[in-house]
Amino acid sequence: MKEEVLLTAQNIDKRFGITHALNDVTIEIARGDVMGLIGENGSGKSTFSSIISGMQRPDSGTITWKGQEFRPQSMVEAQAAGISMVVQEMGTISGISIADNIFLGKEKDFRRGPFINKKAMQKKASELLAKVGMKETCPTDRIDTLSFENRKLVEIARALYGNPDLFIFDETTTALSQKGRDVVYRIMEEYQKENKSVLFISHDLEELISVSTKVTVLRDGAKVAVLGKEEMSPDRVKELMVGRKITEEYYRTDFDGSYGDEVVMKATHLTAGTILEDFSLELHKGEILGIGGLTDCGMHDLGKALFGLIKPLTGSVTVYSQDTIIKSAYGAIRNKIGYVSKNRDLEALDMNSSIKDNITLPSLDLLSNWFLISSQKEKKFAKDEIESLSIKCSSELQLCKSLSGGNKQKVSIAKWLGNQSEIFIFDCPTRGIDVIVKAALYQLMIQLKAQGKSIIMISEELTELIGMCDRIMILKDGKLSGSFERSEDLTDHVLIQKMV
Ligand SMILES: Nc1ncnc2c1ncn2[C@@H]1O[C@H](COP(=O)(O)OP(=O)(O)OP(=O)(O)O)[C@@H](O)[C@H]1O
Ligand SMILES: [Mg+2]
Repeated sequence: MKEEVLLTAQNIDKRFGITHALNDVTIEIARGDVMGLIGENGSGKSTFSSIISGMQRPDSGTITWKGQEFRPQSMVEAQAAGISMVVQEMGTISGISIADNIFLGKEKDFRRGPFINKKAMQKKASELLAKVGMKETCPTDRIDTLSFENRKLVEIARALYGNPDLFIFDETTTALSQKGRDVVYRIMEEYQKENKSVLFISHDLEELISVSTKVTVLRDGAKVAVLGKEEMSPDRVKELMVGRKITEEYYRTDFDGSYGDEVVMKATHLTAGTILEDFSLELHKGEILGIGGLTDCGMHDLGKALFGLIKPLTGSVTVYSQDTIIKSAYGAIRNKIGYVSKNRDLEALDMNSSIKDNITLPSLDLLSNWFLISSQKEKKFAKDEIESLSIKCSSELQLCKSLSGGNKQKVSIAKWLGNQSEIFIFDCPTRGIDVIVKAALYQLMIQLKAQGKSIIMISEELTELIGMCDRIMILKDGKLSGSFERSEDLTDHVLIQKMV
């Protein structure tokens, strides 16, 4: 049976200054396709999807949608024509209600004469929220009352409005835990059954291969291959992404789980944030300590409390010889603690500043002589970090907001590597990072450990916890529910039992 082509993007080209983000890319999506799109960080995936969803205009090339030439001028226009996208970055607007976020720019659909029919709007919002597993959520609540994950689900609800024929997920699943991911998988299944289409972007190779019917691979802005189901294998995809065979180690290969006796950080009876209660931990010199659980188990609040970003209601955090109490983020930085937040858009980076300014911020002490900051030193410092994490950018002066998602994540890690931190608190550090850099980041963690530095890795990816940590503490409903030593026999199944 011949496939019915829904969308053809032909010879799409796009430059940002000296960056050739898309180089003559042609992609065809047929009805019933779940088209996976993969490539290294900065290879052009978000740029491509934002062009077909009306967010940006190509420099050249044409789009044919349902047999007709299509030049969407805005996301609202593309959505009205049947193309909806959930963007990679935080896509909701603070300070307004959930319903207003869902119908932003489409209020006219609910207009009755000069008025907006708020009741009809709320009813429709509730219907859409139910589709993403948020039946209990009141659409008139402010969006700010929702967690990071639920805000992402609201974006999915918004994209579902109007029942689009092509649904684009730009790294949506990395922002979600299993419950949210299941919502995405269910939508994709329904789309396939209804003979509609999906464009699915994810750095999780196994996930990508299992859900996609075809996979397009981009390298440096150019299309290098389209693979059918039978041709997809993680090794083949990786090889196409980088243009060479990948043989690097991924996780740690040692299983003795050795680290020093010295306790470098201690949390005692911490009660903090919305759910974390009476939690204690000890982090040793040279140890990688994993913290796992469901997303709302309190582990993200734990990271913030350890770094002094939120004040505990009870308990304390002390470091080194335990006579120093961490009371603020400023105090934490002074005591050589680094922190990578899960929410890079709001907490980790100043998006309107350059890569250089973001990277050097925690290290200004190291870069100044007699209170004067040496701009030469600053530049070199930033350039070294850009090179060591292969941050894809036009120069160290590029603003963070114009970096690709994974490269933003690399900047938020680079910030803390340069300032010679002794203790690292990493909250979902590999979020949105491509498989190649992920492997490099794991190797870097191994090196830090070997240098006697200590790491707390908070993660929703159990395989990464098992692969990298000396010990794993699992939280459930804000309390410790299980503790595991590094072992070759540890499986995610055992950890899950303590999580739910
Ligand atoms: N507004 C912009 N200004 C300057 N450069 C930009 C802009 N938007 C994107 N770029 C650059 O274009 C390239 C492609 O970026 P894009 O966001 O499409 O990558 P990606 O494949 O989605 O990467 P990731 O996996 O990290 O999300 C990057 O080098 C990025 O820095
Ligand atoms: Mg992207």
